[in-house]
Amino acid sequence: MLAPDKIAVLDFGGQYTQLIARRVREMSVYSEIFSCTHPLEQILADGYKGIILSGGPSSVYEDGAPLPPKALFDAGVPVLGICYGMQAMGYLLGGHVVPAERREYGKAEVELQGGPGRLFRGLEPDAKGCLTVWMSHGDTVLRPPKGFTALGATPNCPVAAMADEQRKLYAVQFHPEVVHTPQGKRIFDNFLDICGVARTWSMAGFIDSTVDAIRDTVGDQRVLCALSGGVDSSVVAVLIHRAIGDQLTCVFVDNGLLRKGETQAVVHAFRDTFKINLIHVDASTRFLEVLRGVTDPEVKRKRIGGEFIAVFEDEARKLGNIPWLAQGTLYPDVIESVSFRGPSATIKTHHNVGGLPRRMQFKLIEPLRELFKDEVRQLGELLGLPAEIVWRQPFPGPGLAIRVLGEVTPERLEILRDADAIVQEEVRAAGLEREVWQAFAVLLPIRTVGVMGDFRTYAHVIALRAVMSQDAMTADWARLPYDLLGRISNRIINEVKGVNRVVFDISSKPPSTIEWE
Ligand code: XMP
Repeated sequence: MLAPDKIAVLDFGGQYTQLIARRVREMSVYSEIFSCTHPLEQILADGYKGIILSGGPSSVYEDGAPLPPKALFDAGVPVLGICYGMQAMGYLLGGHVVPAERREYGKAEVELQGGPGRLFRGLEPDAKGCLTVWMSHGDTVLRPPKGFTALGATPNCPVAAMADEQRKLYAVQFHPEVVHTPQGKRIFDNFLDICGVARTWSMAGFIDSTVDAIRDTVGDQRVLCALSGGVDSSVVAVLIHRAIGDQLTCVFVDNGLLRKGETQAVVHAFRDTFKINLIHVDASTRFLEVLRGVTDPEVKRKRIGGEFIAVFEDEARKLGNIPWLAQGTLYPDVIESVSFRGPSATIKTHHNVGGLPRRMQFKLIEPLRELFKDEVRQLGELLGLPAEIVWRQPFPGPGLAIRVLGEVTPERLEILRDADAIVQEEVRAAGLEREVWQAFAVLLPIRTVGVMGDFRTYAHVIALRAVMSQDAMTADWARLPYDLLGRISNRIINEVKGVNRVVFDISSKPPSTIEWE
């Protein structure tokens, strides 16, 4: 199959860089993000048909400001600069760029001028000739470089967009990638036309080419996949199974810390429906053993991570020589490490399959490396995975252990599991499962007094946590309807033995975190 046309996005550290790449992909053109320090020659040699310069927090006048090589603008490839990308273009090509008197942030009206050119073709300005856009910038281009014409202005920003049609260089001071610029998609659409790319990127095409690539890479060798029941590892397993069938073996390490009914659902979906070679290792006793007496959250995480490796190694050893390990690494994991800002600080130790020790010498196969989370879901649906798996909310590797605050015992796990199942049922019944990022129960390590019938009780407290988020980096508590909260609370107190109080967590992240431990 012919490789699809593609667009490169150079990342200058902007908060919307991933959104730019996604907008382009939504228009059926494959796009990839590179650090702004990535060698230009390589990008050009790899045949990218257009280059987009992202926004970023810097000023072009700052010491060490990241700037693309000037040769970029003479390479004959269309370039679109966005926000900082526009300032960098204006500055390098000899325009007049100054720090704005005041930072412009938020909604703005760009008065279009001088004809739309190819970039603004088909835009529909309001009666006053203005376009609503989203601005967020410090520096401003006062005068465009030679060869450019201004396409619009705001009261704060005399050159809000500019174009050099001859050299196919374009720039906008605002952010066409965010939804607050309602006609932003049209601008990308026009830029893709300028680049002359074929719109051939599709998820169905991705499945075909990836299945071929997996067969080529693996040949007749065997592949091992650690299945957690989460969407990423599930999609990886089904995709690889489609490519190589029984050469794939999945190991599902059941740590006994999953939600109610999850173990059965995983085994049923993969073994019965997809007929995948699945080894279900019931290691709950081992995990409970290493968690005995442990109350510190980080010690819990480390013990669980360590035990996972031990169990996985035991199983792998039994299976003989399997050279390949499949992992559900996603695109955001790949680009975070090359971003100009560098990897973000670790706040909690996250122990996932990625942390397997070096002594386990696998060759890695990561078929989702190029995809965003919503694309993985789309892929999962196309591959026929059940909706419960495709739309499963994120769930931490250490599972319910970090939601049973204090010591993890079978009894306390049971209480949490029952309470959590009610939360899941009610949130789903209210139709909010996909809207909220995560909703779950937490068992607190205290007891409170209550009264049931004529009796005083002294029993457990369940905290309900529900958050809205885009990426788990920041989150706000979900404004769940009162009647839903009421139903959850009533049901938990009535149906879960040993609980006499439910509280609702109304903290946002930061300064709190999503999980309580
Ligand atoms: P926090 O609590 O840091 O969580 O706001 C952010 C996101 O990460 C999940 N989380 C984990 N995932 N291993 C994981 O695989 C972990 O140790 C872990 N701790 C938190 C959490 O559920 C949320 O989605």
